[in-house]
Amino acid sequence: MCSVSSTKDIQPCSKVAEIYFAGGCFWGVAHFFSGVSGVLEAVSGYAQGSPAFEGRPSYEEVYTDTTGFAETVRVTYRPERISLETLADLYFCIIDPLSLNRQGHDEGTRYRTGIYYSDPADLPVLQAAFEKVSARLGQPLAVELEPLRNFFEAEERHQDYLVKHPDGYCHLPSKVFKYLRLYQDLAALLGDEPDTVARMAESAALIYERMKFFWVGFYRVAPAVASEARELVLGPFQGPAACFRIGLGRGVCGTAWKEAHTVVVPDVEAFPGHIACSSLSKSEIVVPVIRNGAVTAVLDIDSTAPDTFDSSDAVWLEKICGLI
Ligand code: SME
Repeated sequence: MCSVSSTKDIQPCSKVAEIYFAGGCFWGVAHFFSGVSGVLEAVSGYAQGSPAFEGRPSYEEVYTDTTGFAETVRVTYRPERISLETLADLYFCIIDPLSLNRQGHDEGTRYRTGIYYSDPADLPVLQAAFEKVSARLGQPLAVELEPLRNFFEAEERHQDYLVKHPDGYCHLPSKVFKYLRLYQDLAALLGDEPDTVARMAESAALIYERMKFFWVGFYRVAPAVASEARELVLGPFQGPAACFRIGLGRGVCGTAWKEAHTVVVPDVEAFPGHIACSSLSKSEIVVPVIRNGAVTAVLDIDSTAPDTFDSSDAVWLEKICGLI
């Protein structure tokens, strides 16, 4: 039972908002958003059906791809706990925004991607989110952005599907769920600690522990000294001993720094100029930490298996570097 000790404790009823995400098979999308802090409910359903189709469609009807409906998840959230901007940002972490009518192995207009809003005030926030992703990819997105036309909740057997069937089909890679937890836990752990090296140390430890990578660490841009070549210097890390300094444009780290974008290396042997700190490292990803438009450090992660990292790791690790 809840007790109120003083009038100061009385909170006004907090507002609840909703947004609709179509991101391929709704089983995985609903499971993902139900794990987001600040989300109250993620309900699987069918949205944006053709006006010619009357009433609630069944899963089997939507499956025919003739109803116009897209598998869609209604996300109900508390705006004071999570912003629409953050939700849209997370949505773009779990879809391929360039793929038309296909996500993972699922193909058809029912698996198209889209964000549908019921509150017109959401439009400018969503437009900004679309523009950000489109600018990053340098291409227009294959994702719809429309006012919600209609939405019908899917049959009970489709609700919380992956809770009911933990080994059931999910088009999203399992690492997406690990990254979501890592990101949320790290944001809470870092809090408002002002020391950047401390934030890097905590981040390296949590990424290493949760993701079980071989080497996780930061190289920081060393203070520029006139007459000396610019270089990165080793920062907080977890894993075997590593080299101290890396020049601008040298190795994978120096390349990510120079080009100010993430570098994914499926096979370190094939990367010209790769600096081998351990012969056990087979693949690598390096993500720049950018502050006020300038690279201040890079996050370097090594794996003992080839081809460990892809664009999904890049998107999540870029979000994580945004916390540094
Ligand atoms: N392989 C990196 C050097 C750092 S170690 O991987 C820890 C590079 O080529 O920049």
